[in-house]
Amino acid sequence: MQKVLITGIAGFLGFSYAKKLSETGLYKIYGIDNLNEFGDYSLKINRLNNLGFKDKEYSKDKEYKSEGTFNDITFQKIDITDFQKINTLIKNNNFDYIIHFASQAGVKYSFENPQLYIDSNIKGFTNILESIKNAKIKNLLFSSTSAVYGDNEKEEQTETDTLNPISPYAVTAQTMENLAKVYSNKYNIPITVLRIFTVFGEYGRTDMSILKFASRIKNEEPINLYNFGENKRDFLYVEDFTEIVFRLMNTTPKPFEIFNIGSGNSYKMKDIVKIIEKILNKKATINLLEKDIGDVESTKANIQKMISTSKFNNFSNLEKSIERTINWFENK
Ligand SMILES: NC(=O)c1ccc[n+]([C@@H]2O[C@H](COP(=O)([O-])OP(=O)(O)OC[C@H]3O[C@@H](n4cnc5c(N)ncnc54)[C@H](O)[C@@H]3O)[C@@H](O)[C@H]2O)c1
Repeated sequence: MQKVLITGIAGFLGFSYAKKLSETGLYKIYGIDNLNEFGDYSLKINRLNNLGFKDKEYSKDKEYKSEGTFNDITFQKIDITDFQKINTLIKNNNFDYIIHFASQAGVKYSFENPQLYIDSNIKGFTNILESIKNAKIKNLLFSSTSAVYGDNEKEEQTETDTLNPISPYAVTAQTMENLAKVYSNKYNIPITVLRIFTVFGEYGRTDMSILKFASRIKNEEPINLYNFGENKRDFLYVEDFTEIVFRLMNTTPKPFEIFNIGSGNSYKMKDIVKIIEKILNKKATINLLEKDIGDVESTKANIQKMISTSKFNNFSNLEKSIERTINWFENK
């Protein structure tokens, strides 16, 4: 069996990808996460429960084994900023693949607490790169973000565009990409950069637009629409996301490649709200506000490179996927 290390396994993307891999029955998965308090802590515990872990609390330096359907996952609470821990883990396990999602997310919060982003995204990621210098991994795939494009005048963003990040978060993601390129070149490590646009779906983050809006509309609380609702985002359903990453993981990687991971379609936020209103059969109270700090106006992925490499082109219907997401949210 191939061994895969997934970092950030209690997070939205790490969890979703662990589930996808475990369902194939072909991989031995080792998941790590520091279970930090950013975002919805109980959701992180729920995600681990869904993977077959029964605990409510997790101690450091202890390995937990999943039970039930997903019976080949090991979990350990590790902070990637701890070099000794991460280095020993990678040295002691011959991982075939490393899928790295354990980084600090969120544009706005990066203006309030930039050090956190430097710690996890730059220091933590460097610890991983240092630890795999001499390990013979087949591919390291890691999450970067469409936010690295920043304010980009173009209708759609292409991997070769000049980057112009406008938040500390996006700067750390660009630095991760640059560090990865240096390590890939110097130590001949196959690395795949996932420049992720906006992923949504079941078990998604409640600080992200779709679930945040659904929750507020349901509770009859007002929602803020920045840039008067005119901001546009490229939304990708989580099942499409995990399928794309799975295909890219299994593609013979070039030493260093960057892929936009999106749907190639962009929607105004005010139109996303209309879809949610229809599903909930409830009108939103909307505060139309000026452009927010660090927010880019429009994201739309040019996905030609991703499609030609992964051969994935069967995107889920947006309305139906939002409906599935909201149904999960209402019944969780
Ligand atoms: N979800 C999206 O649509 C999206 C889009 C673009 C980029 N990204 C990026 O992908 C990454 C994963 O996204 P997500 O939505 O799963 O976020 P998430 O916050 O749900 O998951 C990240 C997980 O990593 C863990 N973590 C953070 N710092 C850590 C550390 N120092 N050591 C160990 N674990 C740590 C957190 O506890 C969390 O469980 C983030 O960097 C995010 O910015 C996500």
